[in-house]
Amino acid sequence: MLIRLFVTHNKKLLGHLPSVMATRQSSDMAKFNETLKSAKNIVFLSGAGISAESGIPTFRGAGGMWRKYRAAALATPEAFGTTPSLVWEFYHYRREVAAKAEPNPGHLAIAKFEKNNPDKTVTVITQNVDGLHARAGTKNLLELHGNLYKTRCTKCKEVLVNTDSPICEALANRGAPDVDQVGSDIPVRNLPHCKKSGCKGLLRPHIVWFGESLEAAVLDKAESVMSSCDVCLVVGTSSVVYPAAMFAPQAAARGAIVAEFNLKPTPATPDFHYYFEGPCGMTLPKVLSE
Ligand SMILES: NC(=O)c1ccc[n+]([C@@H]2O[C@H](COP(=O)([O-])OP(=O)(O)OC[C@H]3O[C@@H](n4cnc5c(N)ncnc54)[C@H](O)[C@@H]3O)[C@@H](O)[C@H]2O)c1
Ligand SMILES: [Zn+2]
Repeated sequence: MLIRLFVTHNKKLLGHLPSVMATRQSSDMAKFNETLKSAKNIVFLSGAGISAESGIPTFRGAGGMWRKYRAAALATPEAFGTTPSLVWEFYHYRREVAAKAEPNPGHLAIAKFEKNNPDKTVTVITQNVDGLHARAGTKNLLELHGNLYKTRCTKCKEVLVNTDSPICEALANRGAPDVDQVGSDIPVRNLPHCKKSGCKGLLRPHIVWFGESLEAAVLDKAESVMSSCDVCLVVGTSSVVYPAAMFAPQAAARGAIVAEFNLKPTPATPDFHYYFEGPCGMTLPKVLSE
């Protein structure tokens, strides 16, 4: 079955529980840490919020604009189809920002937790495309929505790692986020192209855009990890981007213990056993080292 990426607030679709859970919700770090100690299968489900403290804007709130465009509107196949030059400038900007960013204490605490608990199965499922979990040292990682440093040929579909900066000559010094920058006039022939002889197709970022299907193998793996975890930590995600948004509510519904780390409550908060409010670069290291 094809599962497409989209934003929804439909609680039924997301598998939310009746919010009876809210009355039992806790923010007791020591108690949650005890639960973690006895758990065997632990999943971290992360979103853009975990990278906010590394200086990478999220899609919701103040950082959700690039020039006069909503970032989420540029992360679509339609935008790439009509203005590939503009979308490449946007992704070039995001690649450069993420390349200069460093993993923050939240990413590092998760990587350290995995390393220090070889007797447990620890998996990180991330919606992020910035590569910071891997750079922090996380080994068992599933990138649900792709990666800024991978390209896919629109013709032969080959996926390659590409960390070139800039990714092509024409994008050098492009991608400035200022609102007074308008349009983009790079001819398509000067955008990144496949180097395979006989192909020369236009490359695109290997990212799952809104409206597109998640890679079946990655989604299957994520669903299998989620269905066997006994504890799930939901970190810095708005819980409105489907299908990732349904993972944790479904895990809670079948009895897994779920803890959420966010600056503010999300539509899924009432479904979870624990809620730790605040920047996750502060709350995560505390909870994981209790
Ligand atoms: N870094 C990245 O790779 C990146 C950045 C922006 C968007 N995206 C993509 O955009 C989509 C958006 O979904 P999403 O849910 O991941 O992000 P989102 O932008 O929709 O939501 C971010 C969430 O993080 C919370 N948050 C912000 N700063 C935080 C902090 N310091 N500590 C804890 N929580 C914090 C916000 O309250 C919000 O709930 C995803 O598909 C993702 O692939 C990725
Ligand atoms: Zn090709």
